[in-house]
Amino acid sequence: MRSLIVGFTLIVVASATPVLAAQKVELSVDVSKPGAKINRNIFGQFAEHLGHGIYDGIWVGSDSRIPNTRGIRNDVVAALKAIKVPNVRWPGGCFADEYHWRNGIGPADKRAVTLNPNWGGVTEPNTFGTDEFMDFVDQIGAEAYVSVNVGSGTPQEAAEWLEYLTAAAPTTLAKERAANGHPAPYKIAFLGIGNESWDCGGNMTPDYYLSQMKIYSRFVRNFNPAQQDMQQMLKIAVGPGGSEARWVEWTETIMKAYQHHTWSWDINGLSMHSYTVGHWPPSFASVGFSENEYTQILKFTLDMDGLINQHSAIMDKYDPEKKVALVVDEWGAWYAPYPGSNPGFLTQQNSQRDAILAALNLNIFARHADRVRMANIAQMINVLQAMILTDHEKMILTPTYYVYKMYLPFQDATFVPVTVRAGTYKHNDITLPRVDAIAAKDANGKLWIAITNLDPNEPVEIEAALLGITAKSASGETLIAPKVDSINSFEAPSTVVPKAISPKVQGGKVALKLEPKSVTVVSVEQ
Ligand code: AHR
Repeated sequence: MRSLIVGFTLIVVASATPVLAAQKVELSVDVSKPGAKINRNIFGQFAEHLGHGIYDGIWVGSDSRIPNTRGIRNDVVAALKAIKVPNVRWPGGCFADEYHWRNGIGPADKRAVTLNPNWGGVTEPNTFGTDEFMDFVDQIGAEAYVSVNVGSGTPQEAAEWLEYLTAAAPTTLAKERAANGHPAPYKIAFLGIGNESWDCGGNMTPDYYLSQMKIYSRFVRNFNPAQQDMQQMLKIAVGPGGSEARWVEWTETIMKAYQHHTWSWDINGLSMHSYTVGHWPPSFASVGFSENEYTQILKFTLDMDGLINQHSAIMDKYDPEKKVALVVDEWGAWYAPYPGSNPGFLTQQNSQRDAILAALNLNIFARHADRVRMANIAQMINVLQAMILTDHEKMILTPTYYVYKMYLPFQDATFVPVTVRAGTYKHNDITLPRVDAIAAKDANGKLWIAITNLDPNEPVEIEAALLGITAKSASGETLIAPKVDSINSFEAPSTVVPKAISPKVQGGKVALKLEPKSVTVVSVEQ
């Protein structure tokens, strides 16, 4: 079966098996109508003091036989540098609203040992604290997104933390920072004012949170005169956690207040949390599942688009200029605890299904680039939908990691609209789009197309004609796997890794074949 090209329409045609009715999937890529910038911060990460996310995952201590720099594992740093992590949200999560920063500064042997009641009730040694986090983000080249404690802390405690971090003048707290090894002020790019304050962050009503948030916004400052402009530290308020009426009320309350904000308080972002769970408590297995669970999870994950539409519409009412970003700072797959693991550690494996899920969500964020300007997948290492899994000195990169690597060209690229007549992939009573795609132009004018074939059984053949571009050559990478539940394990770390592909360019058109259940990124030279 040949692909059809009508005008600037790219038509994807199912593989040429004669007995199957060809499912044509059309993509119309209009390079002449550039959209919003895809903010690189949508590729942000989240690292909470939870399970092995920080300890073992990042921090091993300088005495460890695992190669490290000032206690931070070198293998993990190298892997994260390679995906250009734009920002890391820390220290939580629910942990943030019980975190007292003074426990985590100064000589390690003098630090308080506390408890982590949210996550397994384990002891928290506080050996990874403020200076270690700032060292970590510096080592990986990311910006810091610090969430302050609104639930069990005070505005004063949070303000002092920011003074410790950012003050350039020789205040007592700045001197304490210098004594702890860092005379220069740190830069804090993003400030989270609480976390899920409607639940683990203190079970607050929208109005109660709003009054707290205004106080924190007023007093928890960037204390560095060289960075006094509020834009130098973007403040992110707690936002919704779903689509039900209470979340609508929450977004309404914060955004209505924002409409009338004064010189003395401001926010630049509204957080939104949405996990792909299915039903609480999480019960889908992260390994050893079938096509049934594959399709169910992908169906659930596509709800992200509706959720963004719903809350964006409320934000548009009060902020038509879209000054406040919708910050999806917790998202990803949340499955049943990995068999044999501590249920409080949220340990799960990461399969080709997660790679597809990640691509679909990143595509959704890119399509909403004008409002969604930041997102943080949960969580970076060893927790939930992780980039990296570690086991003592061993480290593996997950299928999700490779999607982030393949999507690097989309960081800060300009969105290019794609109209997709996707066709359908059906399994039992679930119908999904067969193909999902986004496109963008990078700073050098090069066109990038990311295409996901959701169908786990059938390949797709694509022939692309692109408006405004005469394709001369194309290259790309594809992430394929033998099964929907294929994983990288410590024993077999390279089962799911990207492979180079060479799309054909003929007459300025690009032709390629998408393998079943694959994520593909193609660049087009003109
Ligand atoms: O990511 C795990 C937890 O999920 C976070 O701590 C919390 O904010 C959310 O409920």
